[in-house]
Amino acid sequence: METLDTIASRAVVCPLCDLSLKRKNAVPGVGSASAKLVIIGEAPGRYEDEQGKPFVGLSGKFLNSYLEAAGIKRDEAFVTNAVKCRPPNNRKPNDIELNACRPYLVRQLSIIKPKLVLALGTSACNALGIKYKHLSDVRGKAADTEFGGMKIKVFVTFHPSFPMRFTKPRQTFLDDLKRVNEILKD
Ligand code: URA
Repeated sequence: METLDTIASRAVVCPLCDLSLKRKNAVPGVGSASAKLVIIGEAPGRYEDEQGKPFVGLSGKFLNSYLEAAGIKRDEAFVTNAVKCRPPNNRKPNDIELNACRPYLVRQLSIIKPKLVLALGTSACNALGIKYKHLSDVRGKAADTEFGGMKIKVFVTFHPSFPMRFTKPRQTFLDDLKRVNEILKD
């Protein structure tokens, strides 16, 4: 039977796209199979690539502080990314990379069956097949979404690097995370 560990052991030797050529470590994700919340970011950055863990760099620290302020326990969530390997110069993952990596996300979500998926930013939306013109079209609400033959509930908010860089979206980011916590407790 496939488990999160067997998925991770395949991801760390995955050859399916060119991101595999430059990685130090793939970053399959961290957390438990019984998590109620799955958090999906964009892609590993430098520190994540070095450590093989998601959101351990600056945007991870920023995310941690906002999750805590919203009452969400990060260590009770499963945290992963739209792609499991670092893109060069932290560019956004392209469609070839998102498509190559999507089966890992499908299989992770089919094992965890979370109550809610939190999509952080456009790459997470693209990985999940969520259609939008601007992120603001889908941000701030939970929607039932069909993904890899499953029904999942997805809440979209900013990628933390945006409110980390600019002060204006910070309150909205916090309000979104508070709403996520309410949905988890419903
Ligand atoms: N940004 C992401 O989207 N994911 C990480 O794991 C780190 C930074």
